[in-house]
Amino acid sequence: MPSTVILGTGSYAPERVLTNDDLARTVETSDEWIRTRTGIRERRIAGPGENTSDMAVQAAQRALADAGLTPADIDLLVVATITPDLPMPACACLVQAKLGVPTAAACFDLNAACSGFVFALDTVCAMLASGRYKKALVIGVEKLSAVIDWQDRTTCVLFGDGAGAVVVGVSPEEGRGFIGSRLGTMGESADLLCIPRGGSAAPSTAESIAARDHCIRMKGKEVFKLAVRGMDDAARDILEQHRVRPDQIALVIPHQANLRIIEAIAAYLELPMDRFFVNVDRYGNTSAASIPLALDEARKSGRIKPGDLTLLVAFGAGLTYGSALVRW
Ligand code: COA
Repeated sequence: MPSTVILGTGSYAPERVLTNDDLARTVETSDEWIRTRTGIRERRIAGPGENTSDMAVQAAQRALADAGLTPADIDLLVVATITPDLPMPACACLVQAKLGVPTAAACFDLNAACSGFVFALDTVCAMLASGRYKKALVIGVEKLSAVIDWQDRTTCVLFGDGAGAVVVGVSPEEGRGFIGSRLGTMGESADLLCIPRGGSAAPSTAESIAARDHCIRMKGKEVFKLAVRGMDDAARDILEQHRVRPDQIALVIPHQANLRIIEAIAAYLELPMDRFFVNVDRYGNTSAASIPLALDEARKSGRIKPGDLTLLVAFGAGLTYGSALVRW
């Protein structure tokens, strides 16, 4: 099997910053409550008319520039998102047109919520390894501000908007790049974190919109426990599968949902927190964008060196979870 390697990374966060104090002016909460329960200080919010596809294009252009490639080089484009511009067509089609990716490219969306980037990376690496594609763009992007109930203090303080992208290609060098993944799903707990209305089972009505049932609903405490379990299982399984000890991981790039979840996983893996990249304080939970945004910041800030082994680990609605090992 040829190696699949990450050739470039890029990310984008909208300009507007929404602080905890800003939120405390509209719902009954406080900077202190949000910081101590989640580690979040602020998040970014897309500007007026700024769509998911626009943020995806910004991150993709930066990843392509980092890889020294152009949109013409891409023959596979996967967008991981739960907030596409439209229910149909796929956000990836809009991104293709805006970026100028060739017509011969396969472009599609993938919905695994906050685990979306890890699921998409796994999918793309398998497609590249088949030899039928040459260069892929994997984008994780969300405009969660469009599906947040801004009156629900139990969810509105947690999420934000943003995008991250990677360019993936094939390399003859062995032992580098994408080493493997472990994906899992707990569909029986789907109702713990969902958007209850607006799909084909329950189309939106005037009443459901007034009740804001087209927005994210979450049973936070239950999700917290399953997130720690799912991410710990995903991390442990992949390390065992590849006979890697936790202390051989140079940097863990965890899904950025809550600092306390990350701290719990660090404790389970018996790794110090300085082996974990954390930017949840500045962006909140950006779902599918969270890992590629963190990965890009980690790389650009010099936290990942050639030869380093990194572990990506995610958890999200579905409920889905997944991990991936990448050697740089
Ligand atoms: N500000 C102030 N108080 C708040 C609040 C807010 N933003 N949100 C909830 N509260 C209140 C609750 O109403 C509750 O009050 P009560 O005791 O009077 O009922 C109290 O704070 C404690 O709520 P609780 O749910 O026990 O808090 P918690 O310690 O579980 O923290 C979360 C809540 C949401 C931060 C936590 O459950 C969590 O992070 N869950 C996982 C969320 C997540 O990451 N999901 C995405 C996974 S991809």
